[in-house]
Amino acid sequence: AVERTLSIIKPDAVAKNVIGEIYARFEKAGLKIIAARMAHLSREQAEGFYAVHKERPFFNDLVGFMTSGPVMIQVLEGEDAIRKNREIMGATNPKEAAAGTLRHDYAESIDANACHGSDAPETAAQEVAYFFADDEICPR
Ligand code: CMP
Repeated sequence: AVERTLSIIKPDAVAKNVIGEIYARFEKAGLKIIAARMAHLSREQAEGFYAVHKERPFFNDLVGFMTSGPVMIQVLEGEDAIRKNREIMGATNPKEAAAGTLRHDYAESIDANACHGSDAPETAAQEVAYFFADDEICPR
């Protein structure tokens, strides 16, 4: 089915100046960027976005990292977009990420892991709505 998923290029990858390289991988896989915005997240925005992880031991480091510099936030649309994006990203821990994946190629650690992607249809819908109003999304 055609799906939408939320993608974030994290501060480490933005600092490496590889936004375009990452967008090319999405586009080569047949995913369309139908909304995008650069932002330097506030602590409140990052905590709200990652609220499901609030009790996890890594929560503070995660929020600290995600607010350490600008991020690029986008909605990707396409056939099987949620799974495809996760395949393009590779495993959460870059040490376990397969060759040719974003995290293998651009990430340094499980915190500075280059990108985020929604993990299921329900979270994708929530995450897209967290950052984008309906009239900011431009399917075609
Ligand atoms: P992300 O897909 O953005 O979702 C939560 C983030 O927490 C994850 O990527 C990692 O960058 C970060 N994180 C840090 N430690 C862990 C861990 N042990 N397990 C899962 N995610 C972690």
